[in-house]
Amino acid sequence: MNNETMTYEYSVVRQFAIMTVVLGIVGMLIGVFIASQMAWPALNFDTPWLSFGRLRPLHTNAVIFGFGGSALFATSYYVVQRTCHTRLFAPQLAQFTFWGWMLVIVLAVVTLPLGITSSKEYAELEWPIDILITVVWVSYAVVFFGTIAKRKVKHIYVANWFFGAFILTVAMLHVVNSAAIPVNLIKSYSAYSGVQDAMVQWWYGHNAVGFFLTAGFLGIMYYFIPKQAERPVYSYRLSVVHFWALSFTYIWAGPHHLHYTALPDWTQSLGMVFSLILLAPSWGGMINGIMTLSGAWEKLRSDPILKFLIVSVSFYGMSTFEGPMMAIKTVNALSHYTDWTVGHVHSGALGWVAMISIGAMYYLIPKLFDTEIYSKKLIETHFWIATIGIVLYITSMWISGIMQGLMWRAINDDGTLTYSFVESVQAMHPFYIVRASGGLLFLTGMLIMAYNIARTIAQGKAANAVIPQPAAAH
Ligand code: HEM
Ligand code: HEM
Repeated sequence: MNNETMTYEYSVVRQFAIMTVVLGIVGMLIGVFIASQMAWPALNFDTPWLSFGRLRPLHTNAVIFGFGGSALFATSYYVVQRTCHTRLFAPQLAQFTFWGWMLVIVLAVVTLPLGITSSKEYAELEWPIDILITVVWVSYAVVFFGTIAKRKVKHIYVANWFFGAFILTVAMLHVVNSAAIPVNLIKSYSAYSGVQDAMVQWWYGHNAVGFFLTAGFLGIMYYFIPKQAERPVYSYRLSVVHFWALSFTYIWAGPHHLHYTALPDWTQSLGMVFSLILLAPSWGGMINGIMTLSGAWEKLRSDPILKFLIVSVSFYGMSTFEGPMMAIKTVNALSHYTDWTVGHVHSGALGWVAMISIGAMYYLIPKLFDTEIYSKKLIETHFWIATIGIVLYITSMWISGIMQGLMWRAINDDGTLTYSFVESVQAMHPFYIVRASGGLLFLTGMLIMAYNIARTIAQGKAANAVIPQPAAAH
């Protein structure tokens, strides 16, 4: 056997891992900038391509697909090889997914500030980029499932089930929701119209949360928490139930984004009911992740990587409790269109998605460069700065969101509105400053991470680990 087949293919994992840190910084920098624009609108500079409306989708695309996407590519390519005891299938195709995905991000950075958009949330990119995304995604599926097919162990570890569901579902969502009729190279119209368009969009949007921002990251949880804690998953049986229950339930919950709209009432109620049911599998997964530490709780005190991983799962539990509550129609009547939604989003996005990705990268990058982390102390500092940043972000949004909702619905005895809209905007101002400060803290943590990772890479060297041979494999 030559050296090629005896080692894992880590180069693409290294590329995506580094880009996770880089694109995290870029996306969050834009996040801090637009958060500051909401506190100080003069930061729009009267320039269309610097305006909030154009930079907001750039932020969401950069953090979800750039940062989150890179973390998912890196970890799934690593985990599938390690748990299947085999080298990545079609490494050249995997290289193509890296360069293709980076091209998508570059095209987003160019087109969105220019105002080129399909105007569908989280699917703003125009049709030629959508086609590129489809080609990259299908290649990703070929590499991932090809690796599963040539595995050297019989069993398919549960993390791969989650990664697999994420890859397949995102392919389906993207292709259906992006169906459009092109007018020219930079403009198209959705193939659906009216309320059908809204329904397809939020079937996509909600499941982008469920499969892109959740299932894939649960794959990360099921591999990296047991590894870092050096303990087996708390309950393997629960993980299988978790997988099927979550996959089945998520797909029905999209209508909770369209409460009190032209969508038929029964559809809204169905979405609400499935959102409430979703609490059960979500918490089953959270308990499984956290209880993996049972018997080793003391490790939390000394291991900052474990702190990132376990706190992320706690935020996952919190946001999947809050989500079903917000899906109840009467609660949504207050929360919808307010900052409460934005707070909920970021308790999931910063607390869960970003924290677990950061923890996984601190575990992964030293291994990819055959070295130890440069400074454990800096990870600890990063952890506390990030946690304080999140708390500032989400508490300020809760207060400002509930205040907004209450001010908008307050009515005088004669039926007139108690507050004008501008009064509610004025009342939110201090909370926007707190949110921007929280974001700045979170971004500072990422810069500390970049320094720590750069020093780690400088002291190590790119190396591919040896694959255990059948006699040694178990
Ligand atoms: C430094 C960190 C961050 C800051 C300061 C920040 C700031 C913001 C701001 C100001 C908005 C616009 C809110 C509005 O329209 O009222 C926003 C939206 C959003 N951000 Fe972030 N963000 C950060 C990190 C992230 C991360 C890491 C993710 C995902 C992994 C994320 C996902 C989103 C999403 C999905 C929205 C749209 C929310 C909605 O439509 O309700 N953000 N962010
Ligand atoms: C059981 C799980 C969850 C349920 C039932 C749920 C439910 C909801 C509800 C009801 C809304 C408000 C819709 C509206 O009024 O417009 C919402 C918004 C949102 N949630 Fe969740 N949520 C869950 C978990 C999560 C997690 C874990 C994340 C992130 C990682 C997340 C990300 C988002 C985003 C990005 C939006 C904003 C969508 C938009 O308007 O642009 N959710 N969710």
